[in-house]
Amino acid sequence: MGMLTEELGDTSIWPAGSGRLSLVVAIVEELAVATSDKPKPATDAVPLDLLPIIRNSGALTEKQFLEVRGKVLAGAYPSDTKALADRLVRDNLLTDYQIRRFLSGKSHGLIVGKYVILDRIGSGSMGRVYKAHHQLMGRVVALKIIAPEIVTNDRVVARFQREMRLVGRLDHPNVVRAFDADSSNNILYIVMEYVAGKSLGQRLKEGILPPVEAVGYAAQAALGLGHAHEQGIVHRDVKPSNLLVNESRQVKVLDLGLGVLMEADEHSAFATADGVAVGTVDYMSPEQACGREVDGRSDLFSLGCALYHLISGKQAFPGSSPIERLGQRINNRPTPITNYRPELPPNLVLVLDKLMATRPVDRYQTGSEAAEALQNLLRAKKSVPAPRKLEPPPPDEPPPAPSPAPVVEPVPTRPALRDWFPQLSAWVEQRPKTSLIILIGVLAAWFALGVGFGWWLKG
Ligand SMILES: Nc1ncnc2c1ncn2[C@@H]1O[C@H](COP(=O)(O)OP(=O)(O)OP(=O)(O)O)[C@@H](O)[C@H]1O
Ligand SMILES: [Mg+2]
Repeated sequence: MGMLTEELGDTSIWPAGSGRLSLVVAIVEELAVATSDKPKPATDAVPLDLLPIIRNSGALTEKQFLEVRGKVLAGAYPSDTKALADRLVRDNLLTDYQIRRFLSGKSHGLIVGKYVILDRIGSGSMGRVYKAHHQLMGRVVALKIIAPEIVTNDRVVARFQREMRLVGRLDHPNVVRAFDADSSNNILYIVMEYVAGKSLGQRLKEGILPPVEAVGYAAQAALGLGHAHEQGIVHRDVKPSNLLVNESRQVKVLDLGLGVLMEADEHSAFATADGVAVGTVDYMSPEQACGREVDGRSDLFSLGCALYHLISGKQAFPGSSPIERLGQRINNRPTPITNYRPELPPNLVLVLDKLMATRPVDRYQTGSEAAEALQNLLRAKKSVPAPRKLEPPPPDEPPPAPSPAPVVEPVPTRPALRDWFPQLSAWVEQRPKTSLIILIGVLAAWFALGVGFGWWLKG
């Protein structure tokens, strides 16, 4: 993991213009002081400066600290600073991340509320994520500190808190559990289930996914999203990096409830002049791109875009700028995925098309309906090609020529014969009985015509 420059107090990895990071750090420091203001015995007797830093940080309980100090005094632990640091990490008393901070003289910033930060996991457009543990319960959690740019006013905080109350009630194997959400001086943080694994965004960087694997993940995500939708929560930011896969290949939908922070807000740094939020446009539904009211079907559109990306390594709606990509999804259909993966089975193409239908009414209506369709693909998995060797995602296509004047609805065009055939075969696959009856009817008619023609010739 990172170097000292990646630590809590470093501003370089925050989104551009996050001048208020120092405020976050100051408040996190305040929290650290507030939670560690118990009376402390003097440590002057110990000829080491590492010990007071460790004690002030609050990373160890008082009992643990006294034990460590006792061992140093008794010679059971080395007194050399570096050797002691190594020993504390080896004995799992402190983490690499914590000790690096201490060795650079920083004792602050490791305590957030009742949690001790163990490591930094990463950062995104909304804030930083840390691995932490509860001081008393010991439970390991992920802690997301929302970047101050996003918390623009009390209205945003209130909306976030309302949404997090709902998110706290979610209980589904395909949803990351939220344990707690709090704010302090406009610093919002969320405490959630820690998922050891990778996001599908990280996974995609290693190469495109075999269709069977990607479809299985999308089916699980659809179930998790369906559960959230039933509780009245729309994600609004479904994308590969918000789908975590744990070590048992279970998908966990991440960042539920944070979508409200992305919503158009006149003061938001994330809003365009038109009030349309532009966090990530590549997975956005047309209605979201237009700034219209969204429901769960918008998330299913985004899930379709994510699945498309996972399988093809390409965006369904390409373009050279976010505005162009927004326009593409409002006015056009996705680039046919068979342009990139011609071997994909037609029934998978149909499911993708339905997930990404322009009008919500033409999509799957619920998460469980979408999950069912995706699971059906897996049941008929013989028709899905076997996983190919992992390939790096192909470089993005050169941006297409700018689209002509906006058209509100796409004009359906007559598909070419090569587009008809896969559709027909998918239709037959889905309705074997009807297809058989039609085939028998056609053969019978043909036979009758032949017999009639024979009689006519004889006559
Ligand atoms: N609950 C969690 N358990 C484990 N890792 C997590 C958890 N939540 C987030 N992460 C990881 O933390 C990192 C940052 O996540 P974050 O959601 O902030 O960024 P992102 O998804 O890449 O971008 P965005 O802010 O646009 O959602 C990612 O690598 C993510 O996988
Ligand atoms: Mg995220």
